[in-house]
This record gives sequence, structure tokens and C-alpha cells, in this order.
Amino acid sequence: MELKRLIAESEKVQVYEADDKCVKIFKDADEPKSVVLYEALTHARVEETGFARIPPFEEITRIDGKWAIIYQHISGKTMDELIREKPANKEAYLEKMVDLQIEINSLCSIKLSRLKDYIKRSIDGLDIIDDVKKYELLTRLSAMPDSNTLCHGDFSPDNIIVNTDGVFIVDWLKAKQGNACADVAKTYINFCLKHRTESAEKYLKIYCEKTNCSKRAVYDWIPIIAAAQLKFKKPDEREVLLTWIDVADYR
Ligand SMILES: Nc1ncnc2c1ncn2[C@@H]1O[C@H](COP(=O)(O)OP(=O)(O)OP(=O)(O)O)[C@@H](O)[C@H]1O
Ligand SMILES: [Mg+2]
Repeated sequence: MELKRLIAESEKVQVYEADDKCVKIFKDADEPKSVVLYEALTHARVEETGFARIPPFEEITRIDGKWAIIYQHISGKTMDELIREKPANKEAYLEKMVDLQIEINSLCSIKLSRLKDYIKRSIDGLDIIDDVKKYELLTRLSAMPDSNTLCHGDFSPDNIIVNTDGVFIVDWLKAKQGNACADVAKTYINFCLKHRTESAEKYLKIYCEKTNCSKRAVYDWIPIIAAAQLKFKKPDEREVLLTWIDVADYR
């Protein structure tokens, strides 16, 4: 298989186009196989929910000694690229995003990892906050509503690909079964961390209008989801995330 074009690169992976395949190569040759298998298994479980706007998983292989996951390639542009190209269409794209998130959240999965368990483990493992703060956040978490709704976990414009056949969602590594408002809170946080506060607010407004959900129900998840995000130790996110976990109530 010939790797044709580097589509994207992050700290952990390089994503290539190769014929009609999309090849995600884990840069570290010592990447634990459990990490690779977990991503593929999670993706397969999402496919099993019946959600159709997802590139099928094809295989796991080794390329030059590194683990690689192969998916079907989806041609087109990401919604992030489209918004950058035509900022005037931003609101229409945000509306489309909300519709897609509602579609994802209309499905269930009892096989995916549980979002509340993941958040608990993430907060438990933090060394940046003291035990009192951890206890406060975990108490808050245990009082939050649970559900087995399909949550993407990183639903953002760069994980949405648009082409003439429609819209496809990628990057299901963080998919969980959980509460839809938590998934929306994560999207809100993602926008804010990229300094797109205006988009965050618009997104939330559109979501609440379309679903009759209160903003409060989403805001209540913010301190907890922000705390869980701290485990990635991204220097540029640290300050904002720490501010969020300290805010007692959002309205
Ligand atoms: N099946 C696919 N077809 C076409 N392009 C894809 C496909 N999967 C991913 N991409 C492109 O590659 C980019 C990066 O892939 P992806 O989002 O899965 O990984 P990531 O966000 O870099 O890494 P991580 O796994 O750490 O979240 C996507 O934003 C998208 O542009
Ligand atoms: Mg991504």
C-alpha cells in the first residue's frame, strides 16, 4: 500500500490517504497495542449502533514497525476548513453540527465504555488539584444524570467531513455511553479552548432551542468535563480549565 498524502498530524498520530483508504499511523513504535485495539474496538462498536455516517474500520496492521489502523477514506473537506473558507456560512454549519450531534445522541450503546467511569478515573488520576477539590468534583459527578446515549466525546468541526454524498464523522476514540448534555458540554469546551467563544455560545443556543434542553443542564457538566480534560496536560489549556473547575455555578 502506497501512502500518498499526509492528511493530518498530531502529537500521537499521522493520518495518510492511500488509494481509497485512510491510514492512521501511531508515531511511537512502542505504542501499547491495547491503545490501538481500543480505538479500533470503540470505532467498531459505534458502527454496530447503526450510525451510518462513519468510515468503516478495515484493518489493523504494522507499517515500518509502527501500528496503523486502516479505515475507508472519506473524500471532501472538514467542516473546520469550510468554516475558515466561508466564515459567512458559520451559523449554517453550526446548525448542521447540532443536527448531527442530535442524530448521534439519538442512538444508544451499552457496549461502549461509560462516560461517568472515564471522568471519575481521569479526575482520580490528576496531580494538579488537591484532594478536597477532587472530592468536590467527584461528588458533583456522582449526582449527574447517567444514560447509555451514544456520545462522540470530541465532536468538533475538524472531525466532520463533508462531501457530495453527505456528512461523515471521524475520530471516535473518545466515544462513550453517557448523557447527551455532557457530550454537548465537551463540544462547548472544545470551541472555547480554540478561542471560538462566540461559536461556543451560538452552538449551545442552537442546541438548546432545537432540543428544549436548558443551558443549565449543559453548564452543570462543564467543571467536571474540564477537570477530566486536564489529564492531557496541554500547557495552553491548563489555565482556562483550572478556571472552569473553580466556578461553582454557571447560569
Ligand atoms: N476516514 C477518513 N477519511 C478521510 N479523512 C480522515 C479520515 N479519518 C480522519 N481523517 C482526517 O484526519 C484528521 C485527523 O484524524 P483523527 O481526527 O482521527 O485523528 P486526531 O484528531 O489527529 O488524533 P486523535 O486520535 O489523537 O484524536 C481528521 O480531522 C480528518 O481530517
Ligand atoms: Mg480529530
